[in-house]
Amino acid sequence: MCDTVNIRTAQNQDLEAIAEIGFRAFKANSHRREKLDILISDGDVLVAEMGKTTVGYCVLIFRKGRATATLDAIAVISSEMGKGAGAALLHAAAAEAVCRGYSTLRLIVRADNDRAIRLYRRAGFRRSLRRSPRPAGFHDGMPMIRMHKRIVGPLTALRLGTLALAKSLRL
Ligand SMILES: CC(C)(COP(=O)(O)OP(=O)(O)OC[C@H]1O[C@@H](n2cnc3c(N)ncnc32)[C@H](O)[C@@H]1OP(=O)(O)O)[C@@H](O)C(=O)NCCC(=O)NCCS
Repeated sequence: MCDTVNIRTAQNQDLEAIAEIGFRAFKANSHRREKLDILISDGDVLVAEMGKTTVGYCVLIFRKGRATATLDAIAVISSEMGKGAGAALLHAAAAEAVCRGYSTLRLIVRADNDRAIRLYRRAGFRRSLRRSPRPAGFHDGMPMIRMHKRIVGPLTALRLGTLALAKSLRL
């Protein structure tokens, strides 16, 4: 298989492949099918292809009036891990968020997910300060780590933040 990774916006016909990759990666449905279908229709899901095979995907959550977008899920099929698909998806996710006017990308990762944490750190994500005084964790008790990355420069971030505030105040 060719190792060149191509990233594109997911289409509705990608739903099955995405659901399968997500199920294998997370041992559960990361999103309900109906929800995934809507996210795909909204252009919020990116897929990674190697040759003609879909090898990974990521889901972005955009909230109007906010400056921060969320990377809600990212997964690559195990046989194709370590070939740059994860990094390419992250890079494209940040570019998509910038295009839509967001200045920061954030995510949550299990504290024991070393591989993902390494990937995020290499891509420029840094640990976020905890906003809640209570330690946050997953349902099995594993602590969660919040990370974020500024995806535009400080001046653009300030302009986007002002625009987002104006929109939320309907100015
Ligand atoms: C986290 C995840 C998405 C990373 O995807 P990936 O495609 O393996 O990521 P990359 O290939 O870009 O990088 C992973 C490793 O491959 C290496 N790599 C990247 N491109 C490479 C290449 N062309 N040749 C050799 N190695 C390469 C990287 O250096 C990195 O090494 P390291 O982890 O030992 O430091 C994937 O492991 C996954 O799906 N995990 C299960 C789901 C999951 O945990 N998702 C995150 C939830 S928060």
